[in-house]
Order: sequence, then C-alpha cells, then structure tokens
Amino acid sequence: MTEQKTRKFFIETYGCQMNFSDSEIVASILTKQGFEASTEVETADIVLLNTCSIREHAEERVRKRLHYFRSLKKKKPGLTIGLLGCMAERTKTALMEEEQLLDLIAGPDSYRHLPGLLEQARSGKKAIDIILSADETYADISPVRLDSGGVSAFISIMRGCENFCSYCVVPYARGVERSRDPESVIRESKDLFSKGFREITLLGQNVNSYEWLAGLERVNFPLLLQRIAAIDLRLRVRFATSHPKDLSPELIETIADHPNICKAIHLPVQSGSNAVLDKMNRKYTREEYLGKIRAIRSRIPGCAISTDIITGFCGETEADHQQTIELMKEASFDYAFTFKYSERPQTLAAERYTDDVPAEVKERRLREIISLQQELSSASNHRDIGETFETLIEGESKRSDKNFYGRNSQNKVLVFPKTSQEPGEYVMVKVKRATSATLIGEAV
Ligand code: 5AD
Ligand code: SF4
Repeated sequence: MTEQKTRKFFIETYGCQMNFSDSEIVASILTKQGFEASTEVETADIVLLNTCSIREHAEERVRKRLHYFRSLKKKKPGLTIGLLGCMAERTKTALMEEEQLLDLIAGPDSYRHLPGLLEQARSGKKAIDIILSADETYADISPVRLDSGGVSAFISIMRGCENFCSYCVVPYARGVERSRDPESVIRESKDLFSKGFREITLLGQNVNSYEWLAGLERVNFPLLLQRIAAIDLRLRVRFATSHPKDLSPELIETIADHPNICKAIHLPVQSGSNAVLDKMNRKYTREEYLGKIRAIRSRIPGCAISTDIITGFCGETEADHQQTIELMKEASFDYAFTFKYSERPQTLAAERYTDDVPAEVKERRLREIISLQQELSSASNHRDIGETFETLIEGESKRSDKNFYGRNSQNKVLVFPKTSQEPGEYVMVKVKRATSATLIGEAV
C-alpha cells in the first residue's frame, strides 16, 4: 500500500485586514481536509496568493510574484499555484490563459470549494471558481490563526459592499453586502478569549451597516458591539471600517459607555471638497463629516480618529486639494492612510470621468498631505507626554529584548522596559517621550 503524502500549502496575503482574515478561513478549510500549513514557500506543494485589486500597484506586485513562482515551478513541476481573493475575481482568465501562470483561481466566496479545486488542478486540469454569493459568510468556520502572537485577532462580521464609491473596485470584487449571524461572532469571540486572546477587531467594509434580521430579532452594529463587550472587561474590542454616512449617535454612545470598546475610530474622509465627494459618490458633505468629528470629540474625549485620503481624483482642482488640507487641520487626525488615485477598470469613475490630474501633480499633492499628517501625528503623540495609558502587552519590542511593546485604547504603539508581566496582560504606562510613530514610556 502506498502512503499518500500530506500536501503542504503556503498562503501569501496582500491588501486589507479582511484579506488576512480570509486567509485564516482558507487555512482552516484546507487543514480540515488534511492539508498541512507551511511557513515557507520553498517546502510547499501548493502556493496560494490571496490578492488585492484596490490600486494598480497592488496588482503589479502580485504579477511580479507570480513570475517568481513560475520560475520555482520549473524546478518543482508538481507545484500548484493558485490565485485567491479580489484579483482572482477581476482578472480571471487573463492570468490563467494568456500568461499561463496559474493552475487555480478562486474568488472570495469560493473558498469552501478549494479542496475540490486543488484536486482538479492536481489532475492537470485548470480549476476556476469565481462565482460570487449572496449569503456566504463562512460563519461556521473557525479560522486558523496565522502569524498570530496570541493576543490580538481579527473577526469578519460581514462581507461585500454596496456603497459603490465611484473609484472603488470592492463591490465588483467582493459582491453584495451580507452580515454574519451574531451568535457565531460571539461564539468565536468567547473562544478566542478562552484561548488567551485579549483584543479582537471586528472587520467589514462598512461595519456601521451591519444588520442581522431573524424573526423578531434585529441586531445592528452597536448591539453587536455591546454583546461582545459584555463577554469580559479584559477583552478589548476594535472595529474597522466605518463609513461616515452611517456613523450613528447610537454607535458613539455605545463606544463612550463601554471601557473595553476601544477609543479609536477609523473614519475615511477621502476628500475635503464637496465637489469631489459628490463625484466620489460618498453621500456626505465636508460639513456633515466635520459634524461627526465634533460629536465624537465631545462625547468621547481622547478618542483617536484616523482616516483615508485619496489625492488627484478625476477633476480635482488646486482649490479642492486646499479644502482637503484645511479639513485635515480642522479634524486634527491622529493618523492617516494616504493614496494617489488609481483608476480601476469597471468602476463608475472609470466609466464616467477622465483620470485627468497629471501624475506629477498627484505626487506633489500627496507629498503635501503626507507631510501635514506627519505634523499632526507628531503633535498628537506629543500631547500624550505625561499621560498614563492602560496598555495591552503584545510582545517583545523588535529593537530591544529589554523592552515590551503594546497598544493603548487609542491604538497607539507604546514601547517600555519589560515588567514581570507577560504578553496578553495589561499594564499602566506613563509616556515620557514621543516620535511621530511611537510613544516611549515606563510602567507605573
Ligand atoms: N485609488 C486610490 N485609492 C483607493 N482607495 C480605494 N480605491 C482606490 C483607488 N481606486 C483607498 C481609499 C480606501 C482605501 C482602502 O483605499 O482611501 O478607503
Ligand atoms: Fe484589496 Fe479591497 Fe479586496 Fe481588501 S477588499 S483585498 S482592499 S480590493
């Protein structure tokens, strides 16, 4: 009798936290079916790339990687190369047929079929499944925690997006919005807590529109948060991402009322100009956005607010750009992710508008925005000097084995000399110094 060798898989993940969470679902599905997770590409029989399509640059990186894997395959002919995630949904056959790089393609709603698809690919037949679903949430699958320090974990609470911001590929790559059964989210949170995790981040493209309807029961996002916060005070809860149009007073109250719901809100503004916001189909004005910031700051003192900004969207004028700069100052963001607009095929903007801001103008505007944000982040961190924060220890600092690093509720990283505690425990840390990225302190 010949013994069948366990096939090893390696997953490389690109893009957002949601994709990292999906890779953990994929790992769970495959290990249940007898495959084994490998931590290095070279020893794997199957290489899976979980990809992102949000900007052209993200797709280019994956293409380059695929060429490397193809050279690996020359040395190891039995190697299966698969493309998962958003790029699988969008580029489909091009990479499989024209470039002959792939054996398998699976979109974000097809991961349950991966064992069968891998079987098919192994028999020499190319395997493809990119059908999007209206109800797949992988609710019953307990993710295998990859690259985890055992303290902090992600939980997807919804999938897809129906906002159709005109620049964005996500509704096409991930399909319609659907929320996951709250009981399954609570079960997963309790399970993580019992295994020693002390922080969970609830993920969705727009968590504020989370909604679960079953009979007479209606659970919205604030209710879900309250239920998770009630599991144990030592379990911190975070969430991402919030769409400003759906950030409700009820959510602000819920955050204010629960010490273990973190005081950090990621609220992508994208632009400070009403004309640009309208073309982006964001469904709020700068005045409405700033109104929400004021509501957060007055009800939740000390709450950190971060954002996403796109520069150089179609038709963006110098005056529009200045409006973004002014809004950033007024909102006084603690942190910002900043991007140059990248036209994505299929989107409303690609069809309706011209990508007419020259590359060098996009770059200059981006530089201005980054440098302003550095000042704002540095000022935000310097305001914390002298303050004491409850800090969840995540592990040993990468720079020195004498220090721990951890995070406060505001999601800022603190570095401090080790105490007798362990990662996963809380410690009060007084901030002594600050850079634009880190707070440096001492346990008190
Ligand atoms: N070009 C540049 N940035 C984009 N984002 C989304 N689509 C694009 C695009 N086509 C940015 C937005 C979003 C973040 C995840 O990525 O700021 O909030
Ligand atoms: Fe990239 Fe968006 Fe897909 Fe996340 S959902 S992987 S950011 S395209």
